Amino acid sequence: TTDPLVVFTPSGKRGRFAVGTPILTAARQLGVDLDSVCGGRGICSKCQITPSYGEFSKHGVTVKEDALSDWNKVEQRYKDKRGLKEGRRLGCQATVQADVVIDVPPESQVHKQVVRKRAEAREIILDPSTKLYYIEVAEPDMHDPSGDLERLRDALHAQWDLAEITADLHILQMMQPILRKGEWKVTVAVHLGDAENKPRIMNIWPGYYDGTVYGLAVDLGSTTIAAHLCDLQTGEVLASSGVMNPQIRFGEDLMSRVSYSMMNARGAEEMTSAVREGMNALFTQIATEAQIDKSLIVDAVFVCNPVMHHLLLGIDPFELGQAPFALATNNALRLRADDLGLNIHPSARIYMLPCIAGHVGADAAAVALSEAPDKSDDLVLVVDVGTNAEILLGNKDKVLACSSPTGPAFEGAQISSGQRAAPGAIERVEIDPATKAPRFKVIGSDMWSDEDGFNEMIAATGVTGICGSGIIEMVAEMRLNGIVDAPGLIGSAEQTGSDRCFQDGRTNSYLVYDGTASGGPLITITNRDIREIQMAKAALYSGARLLMDKFGVDKVDRVVLAGAFGAHISPKHAMVLGMIPDAPLDKVTSAGNAAGTGARIALLNTASRAEIEATVRAIHKVETAIEPRFQEHFVNASAIPNAVEPFPILNS
Ligand code: FES
Repeated sequence: TTDPLVVFTPSGKRGRFAVGTPILTAARQLGVDLDSVCGGRGICSKCQITPSYGEFSKHGVTVKEDALSDWNKVEQRYKDKRGLKEGRRLGCQATVQADVVIDVPPESQVHKQVVRKRAEAREIILDPSTKLYYIEVAEPDMHDPSGDLERLRDALHAQWDLAEITADLHILQMMQPILRKGEWKVTVAVHLGDAENKPRIMNIWPGYYDGTVYGLAVDLGSTTIAAHLCDLQTGEVLASSGVMNPQIRFGEDLMSRVSYSMMNARGAEEMTSAVREGMNALFTQIATEAQIDKSLIVDAVFVCNPVMHHLLLGIDPFELGQAPFALATNNALRLRADDLGLNIHPSARIYMLPCIAGHVGADAAAVALSEAPDKSDDLVLVVDVGTNAEILLGNKDKVLACSSPTGPAFEGAQISSGQRAAPGAIERVEIDPATKAPRFKVIGSDMWSDEDGFNEMIAATGVTGICGSGIIEMVAEMRLNGIVDAPGLIGSAEQTGSDRCFQDGRTNSYLVYDGTASGGPLITITNRDIREIQMAKAALYSGARLLMDKFGVDKVDRVVLAGAFGAHISPKHAMVLGMIPDAPLDKVTSAGNAAGTGARIALLNTASRAEIEATVRAIHKVETAIEPRFQEHFVNASAIPNAVEPFPILNS
């Protein structure tokens, strides 16, 4: 007689096993992803499965109710004490009796898929760097002089096949009472090691530890530091939080911070402590919000631009301020929290993504990890819009990267009525072609204003200024309505037929909103504002165009706008402005904070780290500063939308 057939869904893996084989054992042998922390002792319930009954013509099996063994004592005790969902069994206790189809629910899979909202986005398969293991350690014996740690290591080897485990002093300091309190049964959190480190015990608890361990995905920007706190067993984001980068007091943008370090003997050091303090404040905040103990944060991934990268590490960014922009290292870094003075678990592993080049940092690498241009069949242009635009262009064959100095205009800086995105800032604009009057939406209100800039919500929130996405829509709308011409000049009242245009020194300005009667601001767009936007968008466009030259193409299949700000840009307006190359509007999508997502992928899927390191090594870097064609593209791109490039999509 042949052994019963066991089929697992959803994997479809199958094999024949002797009557009495535990389902967990069958799963292990077939390489089915079925979780276990207690190693089959009926304690953790991570191994839950659902037997399916009935006819399975696809698999050629008929499964009867008695295909699995009856509840055994361990399983029954678990069910009585902790309960099991209807139809569930513990995979480590239930044994094969006859042909059976076993469904492994998502929560019982270690490598479950972590949900991402966008259809075109890369999926995240959970594969954390730190996992929990329950073990039973041999008791000490007068005749065997081995230490407690050595016997614990033997147990990990024998019960989990984990070899060469190390432990820091603080684990040794706490281990002995815990082993005894747990009566030689303990749970350990093991960091599984990486290219440079052996596996390491991160924490130890008496008995079975029913909790979890956490990781942080940190996006260290020049303006804000944002972090997601993730449960490393489920991949779930438990809390997200951000703080202002305290380095702002040393300079608004990166270059002013580099000059601060050049001009002050201890400047770099001051900025290093400032950013680390900011980071620690953020970690305390996020742990408080999620109500967890910070010492349970055992893994963290950082992404940032090269200057922030050096300042966080305590490396003077001097060399990044001048050609040839040499990085101290462009490789990925694997460090410990206490190397950087961070107040999470002292030996928490810190992973910093590789930098692509002196101007294109780990943040761009994270964008590449999230958007995966190197896996794309069609040619995709990814722009991460911030004070510096990082640009990637590529497909499966090759990927090119550059950065372009857009300056802070897209963030509302250096614009007369500009401001950061905050409640009260104008973020959406429409200009009426007949009256040439704007209607707008401010952040914090869902209603469009009337032509005098009013509605009930705005009356409550007030109008404070224009943020980056508002400026882009405003200038594009002004261009579409003939208020601004292609070279970027605002027309006079006679030329435009609008009394909103008025002479303002030697050029004209356009009135957006007059709140002065009620003590509010007077918001106008000056010709200098237009100029600032022209410079910023010309820098962005010429960077993209230069990469297209190098690739040997004059159009791209799709465009991805990344960056927190990219999420708010309207594709149509970006194209009217000539910020991005011509492409069908439905092929222009927003990826939100792709750098932050890349950090989360690297945190939750350890294998992706080696993958992005290989990708970055293969990326061709293009240095815009030394390319003569960059200047040429820049000059042409200063016109709106462009002096020479056609934008056929806009006319179709
Ligand atoms: Fe822990 Fe089954 S493996 S209960």
